[in-house]
Amino acid sequence: MTARPRGRNPTGVATIGLNGLKGRVATTSADTAVSLDLVTESETSALAARIARLARAGDVLALRGELGSGKTVFARGFIRARGRGDEEVPSPTFTLVEVYELADDRPAVWHFDLYRLSKSEDVYELGFEEALGGAILLIEWPERLGPLLPRERLDVELSAGSSPAARRARLVGSRSWARRLADLAPR
Ligand SMILES: Nc1ncnc2c1ncn2[C@@H]1O[C@H](COP(=O)(O)OP(=O)(O)OP(=O)(O)O)[C@@H](O)[C@H]1O
Ligand SMILES: [Mg+2]
Repeated sequence: MTARPRGRNPTGVATIGLNGLKGRVATTSADTAVSLDLVTESETSALAARIARLARAGDVLALRGELGSGKTVFARGFIRARGRGDEEVPSPTFTLVEVYELADDRPAVWHFDLYRLSKSEDVYELGFEEALGGAILLIEWPERLGPLLPRERLDVELSAGSSPAARRARLVGSRSWARRLADLAPR
């Protein structure tokens, strides 16, 4: 698997291994970036499950990538890892948001697909403020939010890989994610 550290002037680079996935972590003063090769769909789900275990109330994950890049596959893996494991996770293509109340002691997960959002302010009609008040947000097509997208977040960028079943994932975490992403590295 190829390892591609990212970010200007990396201050730290480490090889990581998560559930058999291989990649690199690069840390800059502002952000921490991790690049990974996902050889199959199950590796995308495994990565999502690994990140789900690092997530906490108030987190925003911006899921980026073209149509069919695997954003919903990632969201499904994330939600199932935080829930019972057998949740139905339909694409919110038409509903624009699906809310998952998991266990009483766990934050809800709000799964947005904003592809069809006409203007960014309309997100408030979907309960965006309530979600930001203590849930975990998974947002497909976060570009639709423009400046309403919180600065403090994890970007998960999915792109084509070297075969039809492969993807590349690039994770870029702002401050609150820096330590958590660095914790993906072996000690
Ligand atoms: N490594 C992989 N990771 C994720 N999905 C994969 C992978 N390989 C193949 N696929 C397939 O690619 C498709 C991804 O679809 P998905 O609905 O997750 O895309 P999406 O990014 O959410 O698209 P949209 O922008 O339309 O919502 C699925 O059919 C899935 O089976
Ligand atoms: Mg989708």
